[in-house]
Amino acid sequence: MRSAAGNDKGQTMQTKSIRVLFDESKIAARNEDIAKAVAASKPHDLLVVAVLKGSFMFAADLIRALHRAGLEPQVEFVHMSSYREATVSSGQVEILKDVESDVRDRDVLLVDDILESGRTLAFAKDLLMARGARTVKSAVLLEKPGKRAVQIDADYIGFECPDLFVVGYGMDVAHRYRQLPFVGVVETENEDRKEQ
Ligand code: IMP
Ligand code: MG
Repeated sequence: MRSAAGNDKGQTMQTKSIRVLFDESKIAARNEDIAKAVAASKPHDLLVVAVLKGSFMFAADLIRALHRAGLEPQVEFVHMSSYREATVSSGQVEILKDVESDVRDRDVLLVDDILESGRTLAFAKDLLMARGARTVKSAVLLEKPGKRAVQIDADYIGFECPDLFVVGYGMDVAHRYRQLPFVGVVETENEDRKEQ
């Protein structure tokens, strides 16, 4: 399945289409599975911490699935920026927006879009454990295997992701495509365009 994703005006039209990797119904079904697994672990005073920005859509759907699974999670957000491009080996992480609630003695579920190097999730997990959380587990929509720079495994994984740059369902490239209700890969082809 392909989805048109806009085009540029001019002599040469750059057509960008999105090849769908994980469609809406697949994602929805997986969210229900993850929510049931979280509920089965009987979390204590559950706090869901969504890692902005990429996880916002996954988190919104997963939180509603958690409700359907009988849980009453509270919800927080954290926004971090990693310097992956500038300092590949140092893996520094800066907190742009911090959690506001007290996490002491609570079971925390970190929710993120993709687990790749693991730096962001490992940093957030260490931070919340240092603040006294009882447990910090993580749910990621996608996992890219073989890309880990630090030792961390997600407790709940939506799908294993091929080693491709993916967009949609909250994830972007240059601020675009977050609105797509599915996960896909951008495909670019140049086409000659005749004036109409
Ligand atoms: P890491 O695990 O610390 O390397 O961080 C992974 C983060 O990089 C994800 O949360 C995304 O924000 C971003 N990212 C990695 N791969 C992709 C991709 O294929 N598409 C969009 N964002 C990505
Ligand atoms: Mg992210």
